[in-house]
Amino acid sequence: MNKNVVRAAADASPVEGVRPLISPDFIREHPRVRNYVRMADAALEQIGYTEHGERHVGLVSRIAYNVLKRLDLPERTCELAGIAGYLHDIGNAVNRDHHAQTGAVMAMQLLNDFGMEDLEVLTVIAAIGNHHENDGDPVNPVAAAVILADKSDVHRTRVRNSEMIKFDIHDRVNWAVEKSFLNVEPDKKHITLELTIDPAISHVMEYFEIFMTRMLASRKAAKSLGATFGLAVNGNRLV
Ligand SMILES: [Fe+2]
Ligand SMILES: [Fe+2]
Repeated sequence: MNKNVVRAAADASPVEGVRPLISPDFIREHPRVRNYVRMADAALEQIGYTEHGERHVGLVSRIAYNVLKRLDLPERTCELAGIAGYLHDIGNAVNRDHHAQTGAVMAMQLLNDFGMEDLEVLTVIAAIGNHHENDGDPVNPVAAAVILADKSDVHRTRVRNSEMIKFDIHDRVNWAVEKSFLNVEPDKKHITLELTIDPAISHVMEYFEIFMTRMLASRKAAKSLGATFGLAVNGNRLV
């Protein structure tokens, strides 16, 4: 357990009735959260999905925090985005279908157990329950940040099986992405997903074929934060 976890525990309610603030580090390091994240990823591995484990949720947590930080939202809102980002995929431990909503209820249980206050819990679980592109909406800034962060994680390291012959379109697109970066420009209020794709592996059109709904979700999320969203592939701005 690292220093921040100890700090979060030591901060526990010096004043009667005041609950401690739960930090993203506390969540990341907690053994119960580790179990939830690992079991969710193990279930997805069984059904052939790309990596959704500590690498993915750790990255989503950091990106979600940074998006709001760059846009100058209050520090605590940024931290809640970091927490929601880390917990957003735990519902996969139950079932891939409706994993956003299932995960929200599971996170509520965990965060209540950790002593988080209700309004923060509700903000975080709304973000988790709305992170999926098909049935989610940026209902608050934390939700918008998690959507943007989650949809930006497309990368070769997510492919579990390195035998190209067995690749499906998701594997191929992820494998083709050598670099992905969510660039937030606070002055212009513009957010760009910058991708470097190897066209020999996956044609840019394939990327659009499977990621169109994700791009639309990202655009909606950016708009809710008062920003525009764009996509740049190999240095060329596409939208
Ligand atoms: Fe998800
Ligand atoms: Fe995810």
